[in-house]
Amino acid sequence: MSRPDAHSYTDFSQGRVQHMVLDLDVDFSSSVIRGKALYRLAGPAGGALDLDTRDLTIHGAATTEGQPIDTELAAPDPVLGSRLRLDLPADCREFVVEFETSPTASALQWLAPAQTAGGKHPYLFSQCQAIHARSVIPCQDSPLARFTFAAKMTVPEALTVVMAAAPGESAAAENGRKTFAFEMPQSIPSYLFAFTVGHLASKDLGPRSRVYTEPEMLEASAWEFADVDQMLLSAEEIFGPYLWDRFDFVVMPPSFPYGGMENPRLTFLTPTLLAGDRSLVNVLAHELAHSWTGNLVTNATIDDFWLNEGFTVWAERRILEKSDGVEAKSISAAIGRNGLMDAMKSFGEGSPFTKLKTDGKGKDPDEFYSLVPYEKGFLLVALLEETVGREKFDGFVKKYIEHFAFTSITTAEFEEFLEAELPGLAAQVGMDQWIHQPGLPDNAPVFSSARLESLEALGKGWSDGVRPDVAEAGKWSAEDWQIFLQALPRTLPAEDCAWLEENFKLTEQGNCEILSNWLLIAAGSGFEPAYERIRSFLGEVGRMKYLKPLYMVLQENEATRSLAAEVFAAHADSYHPIARGGIERIIAG
Ligand code: BES
Ligand code: ZN
Repeated sequence: MSRPDAHSYTDFSQGRVQHMVLDLDVDFSSSVIRGKALYRLAGPAGGALDLDTRDLTIHGAATTEGQPIDTELAAPDPVLGSRLRLDLPADCREFVVEFETSPTASALQWLAPAQTAGGKHPYLFSQCQAIHARSVIPCQDSPLARFTFAAKMTVPEALTVVMAAAPGESAAAENGRKTFAFEMPQSIPSYLFAFTVGHLASKDLGPRSRVYTEPEMLEASAWEFADVDQMLLSAEEIFGPYLWDRFDFVVMPPSFPYGGMENPRLTFLTPTLLAGDRSLVNVLAHELAHSWTGNLVTNATIDDFWLNEGFTVWAERRILEKSDGVEAKSISAAIGRNGLMDAMKSFGEGSPFTKLKTDGKGKDPDEFYSLVPYEKGFLLVALLEETVGREKFDGFVKKYIEHFAFTSITTAEFEEFLEAELPGLAAQVGMDQWIHQPGLPDNAPVFSSARLESLEALGKGWSDGVRPDVAEAGKWSAEDWQIFLQALPRTLPAEDCAWLEENFKLTEQGNCEILSNWLLIAAGSGFEPAYERIRSFLGEVGRMKYLKPLYMVLQENEATRSLAAEVFAAHADSYHPIARGGIERIIAG
């Protein structure tokens, strides 16, 4: 037995699933998907084959000729779920498993009509990264295992299914239902399997892009992300040709737990990006950049996650530099560095989770998810670029993508390739320390600008009585506000909170980054006039980036602990299962 990924029961010595044919029937009345999956194997076949599952009921397995196959579902491991072992006949390369999901499947959120913008139809979506695909279909749920697939999904006829795949024909089915068909010709790891079912409308934004969302949000979404085609062109300049044909995206209901998810051909985005001024479109640029770093060149395991996120943040900021200039990039990098410092502080100095290459064996990836792979990863990539020079580095990046496209690689494989292409660079920047030691090395690039420094000085000088000029601050950009708010002390006297609120009406902010930064200060300061907005915000958004820090601050202080418990009790049922789990861990202490 050889398991290459500590977060999966996948064992390639038993065979490799290279293609799946899925038939999924969605039942909103019982919050269950009934499924039939046909698997096509490459490599060895016959004997034991282990698949990952979590909370799935297995109804049976058989060869394509109908010969039953014995199955054994092991007792669940708290992190990995239940290993499903199939006893395949000799040389069996195709087989079928029938199964159904649990109403509490960790990858799925079933929304009641009231939780949608339209309020009339139910909604369902999946979020499989990191290891939740196994709660939807039995699979080799490791990013090392890539497969192509064809899928059919049957839903009530008033609803539309979109999937991270190429759409085919749809057809009427029995009992007022409709079947949607899809094909995924490019191989993907299981964490990129994704679909959304709801009352959806769409609008074309460019030759390769279309936005899907509920009709109520369509115009706002189309306006906010109108520049998607320009982004696509910028990204191709950095990375080379876009190989996924289409770059469509869905603006999800508010309970979507992330800012964005790079599902191939169909990125998912939180509606909190609809600030009305295009100030948060960097998230779309980020998910787009994953089309190369992440989706073409994929991290081998969750311990190599920085390869996905570090490179993608770097590319996101290169796209930003092209559209908005160098200063915008510096400000974005500075905001990122603040986040990195906070994350490192909360893990504790010397914590192994501040290494780029992690050892997550036995741990739930959702529990150690942090900004470290993003921002420390970004700084390493930026350091490589800075050291070797942009032109040479860009050449390297294109070659890296081309060389490893449609494969999943370890950190060591990246290091090896870098050494072969740019010999000596790793030693020059001390890459070993960057990857294998905790903390932030001293040679991390520093991004600065005069504007940045003056905004930070305003925040840092607060306790000495420094105040921003009210008229001036009225003209600040969203990023300016973030820099300023992040530089302020974490707690302020009530009269200072009142001054900020009175002059800038921060609780009425439409930009969720500004709002959440402000509410963190207000909560930490015990500023009661903001409690109502804290309550409503925690009920409106499902994005963990906003929920978790705010619950953490409320939980830290005796005075607001009961507020945290009360708000969580009110909204727990409407949070996504992944978000609910994360907040439960915070509230339990
Ligand atoms: N792939 C991630 C989201 C993710 C990571 C989901 C790990 C589940 C497990 C996505 O690309 C991402 O990084 N989203 C960020 C966007 C930001 C960095 C611009 C987010 O959701 O905040
Ligand atoms: Zn990402």
